[in-house]
Amino acid sequence: MKKIITIAGSNSQNSINKKLLSYTSDLLEHIERISIDLNDYVLPVYGVDFEDENSIPTAVKRLNEVFDNADGFIVALAEHNGTYTAVFKNTLDWLSRANIKVWRDKPTLLMATSPGGRGGATVLQAAVSYFPFLGANVVADFSLPSFFDNFSEDGISNTDLKKELIEKAQLFEQQLNNQFQ
Ligand SMILES: Cc1cc2nc3c(=O)[nH]c(=O)nc-3n(C[C@H](O)[C@H](O)[C@H](O)COP(=O)(O)O)c2cc1C
Repeated sequence: MKKIITIAGSNSQNSINKKLLSYTSDLLEHIERISIDLNDYVLPVYGVDFEDENSIPTAVKRLNEVFDNADGFIVALAEHNGTYTAVFKNTLDWLSRANIKVWRDKPTLLMATSPGGRGGATVLQAAVSYFPFLGANVVADFSLPSFFDNFSEDGISNTDLKKELIEKAQLFEQQLNNQFQ
């Protein structure tokens, strides 16, 4: 069974990106899901001086080892001021110091949602452009705009957006299953 890591770019307990992530991973069959909560990997703010003096924190090494076992990644990014949240960017910076291929050349489904009409499109575009430099094989990306209008406890309520996500999740699953090993 393929192992996928799901990770939200948010440390909020009530994160809407965590809700989208959970809904999306439930669309996939025959996978083992490893759910990462950034609150379980609290890290100091990255700095070259800190790294020189203290090396890479144990929590980064732990997370890096979890990433070693992944066959694919689903990432849902919260947007703060048009970019990654500070907690996510900090984690990404630390992970890139442990292994520049953060995403291990594995199939990656990128998503973002926000309460606004752009649905985190700006942070999503940043990730689509840059994650390949960190070893992501970006299979598809999906933005869910106006979260509170388009998502209920049953999941995505907008028919077109739901269809789009299902198609992208299927594409991701195909890529996952096409991998050798
Ligand atoms: C400091 C801050 C900056 C924000 N900037 C944006 C933004 O640039 N674009 C946007 O769509 N929403 C923005 N928001 C609203 C977030 O999208 C909203 O808080 C959302 O719930 C974050 O995702 P999460 O619930 O998964 O953490 C911002 C919120 C905060 C607290």
